[in-house]
Amino acid sequence: MKVALIKGDGVGPEVTEQALKVLDAISKRFKCRFEYREALLGGSAIDETGVPLPDETVDICTRSDAVLLGAVGGPKWDILPGNLRPEAGLLGIRKALKVFANLRPVMLFPQLKSASPLKEEVLAGGFDIMIIRELTGGAYFGEKKRVETADGIKAWDVTAYTSHEIERIARIAFCVARKRRKRITIVDKANVLESSRLWREVTGSIMKDYADVETTYMYADNAAMQLVRNPGQFDVILTENLFGDILSDEASMLAGSLGMLPSASLGASKVRMFEPIHGSAPDIAGKDIANPLAAILSCGMMLKYGFGMEKESNAVLEAVNNVLDRGYRTADIMQPGMTLVGTEKMGSIVAEEILV
Ligand code: IPM
Ligand code: MN
Repeated sequence: MKVALIKGDGVGPEVTEQALKVLDAISKRFKCRFEYREALLGGSAIDETGVPLPDETVDICTRSDAVLLGAVGGPKWDILPGNLRPEAGLLGIRKALKVFANLRPVMLFPQLKSASPLKEEVLAGGFDIMIIRELTGGAYFGEKKRVETADGIKAWDVTAYTSHEIERIARIAFCVARKRRKRITIVDKANVLESSRLWREVTGSIMKDYADVETTYMYADNAAMQLVRNPGQFDVILTENLFGDILSDEASMLAGSLGMLPSASLGASKVRMFEPIHGSAPDIAGKDIANPLAAILSCGMMLKYGFGMEKESNAVLEAVNNVLDRGYRTADIMQPGMTLVGTEKMGSIVAEEILV
């Protein structure tokens, strides 16, 4: 399997290193081989080539079977105009690979119940949510502009969706729901936004093809509230790009930490992309304190969704579970009585766990 490796900026390289240790362990145990090709993206690409998404990176990614990404961005590049920022590189590679469906599973390792800032009684019933975020449309990719007006500068970011863009991700979401608990909540602001009203029309018209899936609609503000009030009510959440970005960060706290959530991005081409949902966290970069589990679990998703390697993917999940059972914690999920470990150590123990 050819893997394009984008370590990126901030904590990106250090968490990706840990994911690689785990992949090495997987290849030893299951006798498979991963071939890596490193590519530049974001800040490190700007420093080396002047642009956040070099053509060579697109080339390496499209010629691979999967892309494994750390994180991009940092204060050093904040002064750059929007289209030259590191984040533009990330959006660019998502668009270039046409990975319009971003799967963000939010599940609670029971060992981390008390690490979540939410009350025990909220988490007591458990939850298992799959947030499906549209990834290549909406305000992220709509027209962006600034003009001078009599009232000062005016700026806008257009939230636009075509019915085609809505339908293709909705079909994926319905299929995912079918393999789960067959419930889907479509999150929007149809009381205010025309684009949301189109989402309702399009999803409403294809719903009959998935009559076995129970579909409901929920406004995004209500969804933000319901997520922390009663997370157990959700199975699949389908939503547009910006709402998905916000709600998945919120939902990560149900799981204890932003450092626990992996993601898989799939779409129109055979190449799929796997990345933690967290950003580059420049404030903690290079200190060996970042939680590598989101990156490691992203590898787990790569094995399953990228290569169809279910048992290898389960081995990653099981190893993480066992390491948590044994009481190892990074700072973000640390609890009294547990053993505090750094990024490197956490990566090594998970990798060792795979080989025992
Ligand atoms: C994410 C991140 C990115 C996004 C940033 C880094 C551009 O927050 O993957 O959720 O907004 O999509
Ligand atoms: Mn985000």
